[in-house]
Amino acid sequence: MSAAPVIAIDGPGGSGKGTIALHLARRLGWHLLDSGALYRLGAVAALDRGVGAEDETGLARVAGELDARFEAGDDGVEVLLDGVSVTDRLRAHETSEMASRVASVAAVREALVSRQRAFRQPPGLIADGRDMGTVIFPDAALKIFLTASAEARALRRYKQLKEKGESVNLSRLSEDIEKRDERDRTRAVAPLRPADDAHVIDSTEMSIEEVLSAIQVLIEESSISL
Ligand code: DC
Repeated sequence: MSAAPVIAIDGPGGSGKGTIALHLARRLGWHLLDSGALYRLGAVAALDRGVGAEDETGLARVAGELDARFEAGDDGVEVLLDGVSVTDRLRAHETSEMASRVASVAAVREALVSRQRAFRQPPGLIADGRDMGTVIFPDAALKIFLTASAEARALRRYKQLKEKGESVNLSRLSEDIEKRDERDRTRAVAPLRPADDAHVIDSTEMSIEEVLSAIQVLIEESSISL
């Protein structure tokens, strides 16, 4: 039997990937991999265990030993680390910073490869991340690279955090996002870039529905049979 089909959705933070991936997974009834959550979990685990950003061996060990569970809850996905919910900590400033550092360590990325590939189960997988189409699922049936202007991305993250009741400063958030994007784009391993065969969608001026419609057309034109 051939492997379950994968739709890879890569792109920078705030491009709308997470929202689009969740909608698509629900619409198609496919599994969902939020690979960023794994790096964020690695960051939370490292912070809790006092493993520093410069301790690459320690970070890789933490990533390899992650006891993570994703459970469907009423308000979306509940994320558990060692059986304890850490959903609220995943998007915190401290976690985002550490996650970006953790994600630039080659041994950490290596430790997470098979865990990510294990999400590929019938009837299919929507994989959300930075290197889904380039490294983890190079044979994905459809590869989308979702971008948006830096301003639009900062504004979206700002609204997201505000809705969660966090106190945020737009210009600081904007600077942080730029800094993390720069780190993701220029790191030596699995840098953020569109796969050669990815379809690039700039969502700056698009609604969620418009992006979903554009992807629907690409699905119909692809080899995916639903
Ligand atoms: O998508 P996100 O913001 O939750 O990702 C958190 C961090 O992990 C971010 O710095 C990018 C990094 N990441 C990565 O390097 N590779 C992935 N496949 C997903 C996320």
